[in-house]
Amino acid sequence: MLKTCTFKHGTVTFSDTGKGRVVVLLHGFLGSHQIWEQTIANLSKSYRVIAIDLPGHGGTESFGYIHTMELQAKCVKAVMDHLRLKKYVIVGHSMGGYAGLAFADLFPENLKGLCLYHSTAYADTDEKKHDRKRSIRVVKANPGIYVREAIRNLFATKNTKYLSREISFAQKIASKTTKRGIIAALEGMIARPNRDIILGMVHYPVMMVIGAHDNILPYQQLLDQSELISQKHVLFLEHDGHMGFLESPRQSNQALRKFLRACYKS
Ligand code: MLT
Repeated sequence: MLKTCTFKHGTVTFSDTGKGRVVVLLHGFLGSHQIWEQTIANLSKSYRVIAIDLPGHGGTESFGYIHTMELQAKCVKAVMDHLRLKKYVIVGHSMGGYAGLAFADLFPENLKGLCLYHSTAYADTDEKKHDRKRSIRVVKANPGIYVREAIRNLFATKNTKYLSREISFAQKIASKTTKRGIIAALEGMIARPNRDIILGMVHYPVMMVIGAHDNILPYQQLLDQSELISQKHVLFLEHDGHMGFLESPRQSNQALRKFLRACYKS
């Protein structure tokens, strides 16, 4: 069911599906709760699944010119407090994972587990920051072209031919992101700090989902990063890019279920 609540005098939209222990899904850059459609359908058979539209995405408003990961985490906390939920697992896709890590930093007592789904605990390199600045200039001039290219790049290049339905689905969702929302997210990602220290410190399970053909995050760097995790779960998707839950939904759901069982056992 689609619901709303208030954060900083603005509206936040989220879906709330199923009953039981709670899992929070955070979409990536240019996504919305809708991108998790198949994940929600599967996990909500056994869990209560809250999928939140992050600031400037889907049905959630923008809050100023930069959406830092801390602001996004506080927006997530506002939803969870509104629902009076205290303990949950966060699954964050890419930018949603950066927000999940900020959440782990700010509100550690609420987490039972954290999944970095095609995401990283490292800050942007100088080169990446430079690329994002260039992206901001392109978005200002022509958001439509930028969004189309950016979404294509999320899927493994070798698979784009037979994933045309999934690509159109992601593009349709992305096309709803406002220019202001896109720029504020890019600024927020540029500003995010390293949070790798959290991976070794936390007392709950942490999962990393890694795509062998990810055009955004190099898989070897993510595999090395996973060594920092004390209670480690890794799903390595050998045929996929940056969108495992759309590229290999069955494998993704199976691994998430196993991870959730471990989180709620510990
Ligand atoms: C995302 O999918 O959220 C972005 O690709 C993340 C990024 O650009 O770092």
